[in-house]
Amino acid sequence: MARSFLKMQDISADELNKIFGIIKSRKGEIEKRKGLKVLQNKVVGLLFEKPSTRTRTSFEAATDRLGGSAIYLPSSEMQLKRGEPIKDTARILGSYLDGLVARVFGHQDVVDLAQYAGMPIINGLSDMEHPTQVVCDLYTVLEVRKKLKGLTMTYIGDGDNMCNSLYVGCAMVGMNMNAACPPGYKPDEATLEKAREIAKKTGAKLNLYDHPQEAAPGTDVFYTDVWVSMGDEAEKDARMKAFQGYQINADLLKLANAGASVMHCLPAHRGLEITDDVIEGPQSIVWQQGANKMYGAAGILEFFLG
Ligand code: CP
Ligand code: NVA
Repeated sequence: MARSFLKMQDISADELNKIFGIIKSRKGEIEKRKGLKVLQNKVVGLLFEKPSTRTRTSFEAATDRLGGSAIYLPSSEMQLKRGEPIKDTARILGSYLDGLVARVFGHQDVVDLAQYAGMPIINGLSDMEHPTQVVCDLYTVLEVRKKLKGLTMTYIGDGDNMCNSLYVGCAMVGMNMNAACPPGYKPDEATLEKAREIAKKTGAKLNLYDHPQEAAPGTDVFYTDVWVSMGDEAEKDARMKAFQGYQINADLLKLANAGASVMHCLPAHRGLEITDDVIEGPQSIVWQQGANKMYGAAGILEFFLG
């Protein structure tokens, strides 16, 4: 079976560092618009069951900039929509393509793709994890703060795919992580257990709280995500109530270390999980974070497909 990137824990800390090194080199080259040939003769598919602005465009652009070519495959326009099994789709796509970035509802879909496609599958977001985002995010923290080990990230909001992948990613690089998630919206217990196992080796301290004010002291980097993830729309009313107060705002920043950075994977909902003044303010590194998705995609593609 080809090597895939379905969960953050699929790569080791050393490999993550190696990917950071590739991202740094490729970023410099791509910024200078150097014609790269890393993915020459490689065709990458992008199978998306959900909408995307950043992940789709960054992986397509990165593929092109590395000298390969990309094909966007929205599942709504494929036979998948009419019930063709994912394992049949996987075997056929695997005979045409060199790798596939897949954004799915149920995580099992990327597991099935990886089992049957015979090519690397990159998880471009599932209900369980968003690992490529975390690679870009940690790279961005490294760029801004010049280190990762010993810093403290505090995540506010839903214990969702982002929160799961961040716990494992932070544990791998020795970053402490606090999360404040309302009761009933905690991160996946098995993923958290995996993160705790990794943290034992790296010294990262992982904490889980109920309230943002408990989690904020000592924070170097705040992170938040939407209250209603793709696929959770039916729960919107209950979620809008449960997440009241789970917001990064000026009052929360006052509880953290001076100059704490603020991150958001985007899309953002101003006035809900983050205030406009904070996302647009001097502590926000959100736009650098978003821009780095293309360089992160380049690093991940080169590592798995190059
Ligand atoms: N952050 C992120 O994954 O954005 P998209 O949904 O636009 O891809
Ligand atoms: N948790 C969000 C992340 C969006 C990038 C979702 O799954 O919709």
